[in-house]
Amino acid sequence: MKWNKSIIDTLPWGKSITRKEEKEVVANKIASIVNDGDIVGVGSGSTSYMALLAIAKRIKEENLHIKAIPTSLEITMACSRLGVPVASLMEYKPDWTFDGADEIDSHLSLIKGRGGAMFKEKLLINSSPQTYIIADSSKIVTRLGEKFPVPVEVFPQALTYVGQALNELSPREIKLRMAEGKDGPIVTENGNLILDVWFDNIPHDTETAIKSITGVIESGLFIGYGVEIVNN
Ligand code: A5P
Repeated sequence: MKWNKSIIDTLPWGKSITRKEEKEVVANKIASIVNDGDIVGVGSGSTSYMALLAIAKRIKEENLHIKAIPTSLEITMACSRLGVPVASLMEYKPDWTFDGADEIDSHLSLIKGRGGAMFKEKLLINSSPQTYIIADSSKIVTRLGEKFPVPVEVFPQALTYVGQALNELSPREIKLRMAEGKDGPIVTENGNLILDVWFDNIPHDTETAIKSITGVIESGLFIGYGVEIVNN
């Protein structure tokens, strides 16, 4: 039986999409990589969403049988709305993954997690033999941390402890990410909080240093993940 799932089927994409034409170009490049039978890790954010739209179009037109492993609730709902079958990471290993980024430096290191989904994004990227990062020109930076803070997902009871330990890494500022559409802080899909940590300088070992703090679930720093950049 099928649900009448009008709540999901009428959901618009949450925010307006900036640089739409540029994103459309990279989205089509990603869709052209898809092979029938692929298990694809699907990242979060507007660029990933545009790529998902392009993939859904190919699925319909060419009757492709692919499965998506989504990195967030938002993308899970988009898959449902677009008729893209979803699979679980418990059962399937992705053949490849695509995702967006907030910042990309010349060593292909990244800051991600503006959407708060960096834990599952990192899980998918680490689970995949190959990852494509799709990005418009605004994402390229000379120094990581130039435009975005490093998001750090924190177990709620550990908030104060983690804040104190992060201070040892000499950040410029640490801010608890507040929600829009809810009072108080953002609560992630895993029930945790997010600290946005601004750095003037991000040494190579920062990702490991953040991850080693008890109470940190994951950070949005992706240093040396061997990703391939797809841009226009
Ligand atoms: C989601 O948590 C993020 O990592 C996104 O992939 C990143 O913020 C890019 O989003 P846009 O494609 O909307 O710029």
